[in-house]
Amino acid sequence: MKNPNQPFDDTVYGRSRVKDSSELKAYYEEVRLLGTEAFWNVANEIEPWEPHTLSSVMFWNYEKIRPHLFRATELVSPGDAGRRVLYLVNQKRADIRAACGMLFSGIQITKPGEFTPAHRHVASALRFIMEGKKGYTIVNGHHITLEPRDFVITPNGTWHEHGVAEDGETCVWQDGLDIPMANAFEANDYAVLPEGEGQKQLFPTNYSPLTYGGSGVLPADKEWSEPYSPLFKYSWTRTYEALLDMAKVNEGSPFDGIMMNYVNPHTGGSPMQTMGAAMQLLRAGEQTKAHKHTGSIIYQCAKGKGYSIIDGKRYDWKEKDIFCVPSWTWHEHCNLSNSDDACLFQFNDLPTIKKLGYYQERAYQDNGGHQKIK
Ligand code: FE2
Ligand code: FE2
Repeated sequence: MKNPNQPFDDTVYGRSRVKDSSELKAYYEEVRLLGTEAFWNVANEIEPWEPHTLSSVMFWNYEKIRPHLFRATELVSPGDAGRRVLYLVNQKRADIRAACGMLFSGIQITKPGEFTPAHRHVASALRFIMEGKKGYTIVNGHHITLEPRDFVITPNGTWHEHGVAEDGETCVWQDGLDIPMANAFEANDYAVLPEGEGQKQLFPTNYSPLTYGGSGVLPADKEWSEPYSPLFKYSWTRTYEALLDMAKVNEGSPFDGIMMNYVNPHTGGSPMQTMGAAMQLLRAGEQTKAHKHTGSIIYQCAKGKGYSIIDGKRYDWKEKDIFCVPSWTWHEHCNLSNSDDACLFQFNDLPTIKKLGYYQERAYQDNGGHQKIK
C-alpha cells in the first residue's frame, strides 16, 4: 500500500495523464464552442489527493489591534456603520471577506449608551465577549446580559441588536459568522428595523440562560422545536467549572487537552446548524500532539499564554489573541505556564462539514507526534 506521507504521483493509473497532441488541441477548440471542456484537463486540480485549503494561517494580535478599534469609536457610530467592526482578513480569502475557509470574523466595539440597529440575516452569528461591563444582546425579544468570556449565539434568521448600558464600560467582543458560506450558497439576506424601533423585550432579562442553562437538566414544562439551541448564552463561569471538573478525572484528548463543545441542550448537537464552538483547557505545562482534519477553526485565547504550531510555524498567543487553523493543516498547542492553565475558545464550521460527510482527521506520525519547526 502507498505510504500516504510520500509525495503523490499524478502519473499513476487512475489519474489524468493524457498528453497534448495537435489533434487533441483541435478537439478542445471544437468542444469549447459547445460550452464543454475535457474533464481530464482539470481532474487532478479539482480532485486533489488530499483536502486542500485556500486559506492562509493567520494571527491577529489583539494588543496591536485594540487602539485602532477604540479609534473607530471616534470616527463612526454604530447607527451609521450598522455595526462598528474591524473584520479579520485572511490574506488569501480577502475576496470573500473570510477570516478562514468560509467563516467570517470581526471584532466589535460598543461604548456605554450605544446600541446597534435591530436586524436579522440568514447567516448565523456568534460572539465571544472580550472585555467591558454591562453589555447586552437582544435576540428575538430575549434581553441577555454579557460578561467577558461568555459565548453567545444569534441563530440564523433571528432578530438581534446589541448595546452597552449607560453606566457600563466599553465592550469588545469577537463576532463569528458563516457569511462567506451563506454567500457561497447564494442564500444570505438582510433586514433591519427602522430607526428608533428596537425589538420589544418579550421575556424577563436573561430568561434563556436562567431557563436552559442548568447542566444536565431541562425544564419539564417547555417544548422547543426550533433548529437551534434555546440557550442563547453560555456563561464562562459554568464552562470553566465544567472543564476543571472534567480535568479531575480525565486525560482528555492527546490533540486538544480537555475540550468541551458548546451544545444545544435539547439535542446535544451544535448550538446552531452551520457553526460549532468549543472551549479547551490546556493544563499547566501541557503540550498536545499534532493532528489535522477538515474544517476551518478560528481560535481565541480566553485565558493564559502559550503557543500553537500550525503548519510547522510557531505562533505565540496570550489572552484575546486570535488565530486560525485552515482545513487539513497540522496543528498542536502548548501551555507555556507551569503553574496556570490556559484556555482556547474556538468556533468552526464542523457541524456543516460533518453533516455533508466531509470530515476526515489524521494524527501526525513522525517525531513523537510533534511537527518539526520549519
Ligand atoms: Fe447581525
Ligand atoms: Fe484540531
